Amino acid sequence: MINIHQILSNPELKRIGKHIQYRQTVTSTNRVLYKMAVNALEGSGEPLPDGQVLIAEEQVAGRGRMNRVWVSPRGKGLWFSVLLYPELPVEKSFLLTFLGAVAVAEAIFHTFEIKSVIKWPNDVLVKGRKYCGILTETRIQEEKIQFAVVGIGLNLNQTLQEITESYGPIATSLRIILHRSIEPQQAFVAVLTEMDRYYEMLKSGQGQGIVDKWKEYAAFLGTEVTVVHEDQPYMGIAKDIDEKGGLVLQLKSGEEKTFYSGDLFL
Ligand code: BTN
Repeated sequence: MINIHQILSNPELKRIGKHIQYRQTVTSTNRVLYKMAVNALEGSGEPLPDGQVLIAEEQVAGRGRMNRVWVSPRGKGLWFSVLLYPELPVEKSFLLTFLGAVAVAEAIFHTFEIKSVIKWPNDVLVKGRKYCGILTETRIQEEKIQFAVVGIGLNLNQTLQEITESYGPIATSLRIILHRSIEPQQAFVAVLTEMDRYYEMLKSGQGQGIVDKWKEYAAFLGTEVTVVHEDQPYMGIAKDIDEKGGLVLQLKSGEEKTFYSGDLFL
């Protein structure tokens, strides 16, 4: 159970965490917050605030990237979304996903001394297993981002059996990594604090700082990887991230190919 009031009175938070709504059960926090943002903009009232958070105890239609299901059982993890008005060109929306991944990796390191690895485009892993995913959805108007919803799904307290039944051996939870149960409040505050910090950085025009931090966690850069794009595997060296968040792969032929979507296998 999350204590919202304790977070709302935290003077350190500037935007993210200043406004939090809590629900027992939702379809998907991304979907609900997106609809709330549209309704507020198109209704007669005020737009929702920059940094508005919606957190749910349980999602019954949690979604991942590429319309995959995100299993979000009651009380087992952090399932929340953040509404942002980032004033970024559309091609820079990848920075929001990067912001989420860096914030989670930093929060988990500072709070639990666990070193994470970020896998392009949006996974946070420990020892090769994913414990957190990020889904960013934007509303574009007149070729600009009107708003973005950044959804964070972070596995906290699932047992090995529960994780294996839901996802197989590719996933994990902080409980499995640390061999103890995790206080959701502690993890939530830590992630919000880091998201807020990196969002202020973004707002002050220092998006490059987020990319630099992201690269520090992206241990796959410089190694041999496989990208599966539209069911086609491409093997090569992960060279870099381009200015639009694309993954630059140097293929065996020496040719470089940049991917803007796909699955990365390390
Ligand atoms: C992925 O790895 O594919 C992204 C997973 C994102 C899951 C989170 S949980 C909170 C928010 N609401 C959703 O429906 N999805 C995101």
